[in-house]
Amino acid sequence: MSTATLPSAPRTVGDLRVLPVLHPQGCRTYVLADPTSRQALALDVHLDLVDTIEAAVRDAGWTLPYVVDTHTHADHPSGAGPLAERFGSTRIAHALAGHAGVTRHPDDGDTLHLGDRVVTVRHAPGHTPDHIVLVADGAFFAGDTLLIESVARTDFLGGNPGQLYDSIHGLLAELPDDTLLYPGHDYEGREHSSIGAEKRDNPWLALDRETFIEQITANPPTRPANMDALLDLNRQGTAIPGLVSADETAERVRAGGAVSVIDVRTGGEYAAEHVPGSHSIPLDQVVARADEIRAIPAPRLMICRTDRRARMAVDVLAPLGISGLSVVEGGIESYKARGGELLEGKGVMSLERQVRIGAGLMVLIGAALGTFVHPAFFGLSAFVGAGLVFAGITDTCAMGMLIARMPWNQVEVPSGADAGGCAASAPGGCAAALPPTQE
Ligand SMILES: [Fe+2]
Repeated sequence: MSTATLPSAPRTVGDLRVLPVLHPQGCRTYVLADPTSRQALALDVHLDLVDTIEAAVRDAGWTLPYVVDTHTHADHPSGAGPLAERFGSTRIAHALAGHAGVTRHPDDGDTLHLGDRVVTVRHAPGHTPDHIVLVADGAFFAGDTLLIESVARTDFLGGNPGQLYDSIHGLLAELPDDTLLYPGHDYEGREHSSIGAEKRDNPWLALDRETFIEQITANPPTRPANMDALLDLNRQGTAIPGLVSADETAERVRAGGAVSVIDVRTGGEYAAEHVPGSHSIPLDQVVARADEIRAIPAPRLMICRTDRRARMAVDVLAPLGISGLSVVEGGIESYKARGGELLEGKGVMSLERQVRIGAGLMVLIGAALGTFVHPAFFGLSAFVGAGLVFAGITDTCAMGMLIARMPWNQVEVPSGADAGGCAASAPGGCAAALPPTQE
C-alpha cells in the first residue's frame, strides 16, 4: 500500500460504500460504490494515489464506470486521466474546466448511476467557475466549497466569493442536517462532518452575504506552490517529466517553487550549499520519510550534486506509489552554473570528492604497506581498484553509502526549514485564509 491513509474498510453511508483516502498534503480522494452492482466512482484522485485506488477497487471486486474531478485543481496533480485509462472509465468534469480527455460534461442536476443508486451532480461555482459537487443518499461530496469549519478560497482561477456564498447556502437549504459532509480538503486529518454540525460550528456560515465577501477577500492566502505548472498538467493531461533541466529548475525556484525541491545529498553537503527553501532528505532516509515527501507539493524536484543519487531516490520511491517526481538534470552543479539561487553555509565537501579522496588514500596506503611491510598489502590496492570498476559498471557505490553515514556527514537539517511562507502556503492549499472572528 502506498500510504497509511487508506481506511481498512469502506464506510457505509446511506445505501453506498464510501472509501475516503486522506493524502498527507491535505487533499481528499473518495471512492463511492454500490454494494449490489459493485459499480464505483472515484472522485478527485490525487496522482500519488492512482495505484492505491486501483488496488482498492480491484481488491473489492468493483468496476469503475466513472472518474470525476470536482474542479481544476491548483494545488495537486490530478490522477483522473491515468486511473480512467486503467479502468476504461468515463471521465467527468464541468465543461468550463476544459480538461483534455474528459468525455462527459455534466449540467446542474445531471445524475450518475451506480447500479440502481443515483448520485446527483450539482454545479456549485465560487471556488472556481467549473466547480461541481456530488450529492448521494446521506452524503455530500463538497469538493472545495464547504470545508469542515471552513470554506474554500476564491482568490484565483476566476473564483467568486458571492457565487461561493450562493452555492453553499443553496445546497445547505436542500440538504438534511444529518447529511454527512465529505470535503475536498482537510488539513487537520478529520474524515467528515455533517451539515448540522457545520450549521452549528462553521463560523463562515453565520455571516451574511456582504460580510462573507468582505472577510474572504480581506486576507488571501499564499498561492499554492507550482500553481502554473499544476494547471498545465491538470488541464492538458500531460505527464510530469522524469527529467527537468537546471534552467527550468532555476526558473521554478525564482517563481516560488523551492518548497518542492528535495535535496537527497547528505546533511553535510546540504549545509555547505543548497537551494534556499528546499527540503533536505538524504538518499538513505527517503523511504523512511516517504510520507514527508508525499506532503511536499508536486511536481517535486529531486536534486543531488550531479543527478545520480536523485535518480536512485526516484527508483526507490516509485514502488511506494510516489509519483510527480522529476530529477534535476545535472544536479546542483548545473543549477549553479545556470545562475540558480543558492544559500551557502558551513558544511562538508561533496560525497563524490570524499569518495575520491578515500579511495585514493586506500590505494596509496596499500601500495606503501605492500612495498615496506609485506607484499600481501598490495591486495588492499587491488581490492579498492576492483571496487571502483564494479561501482562504475553497476553505477552503485558502496563506499559512498558508507561515507554518507559517517558522523561528519550527519548534519541535522530540519526539513523545509527555509521554506518560510511557502510551508505555510501548503496547509493553506484551497481553504480560505482564516475563519472570521466571531462576535
Ligand atoms: Fe481547489
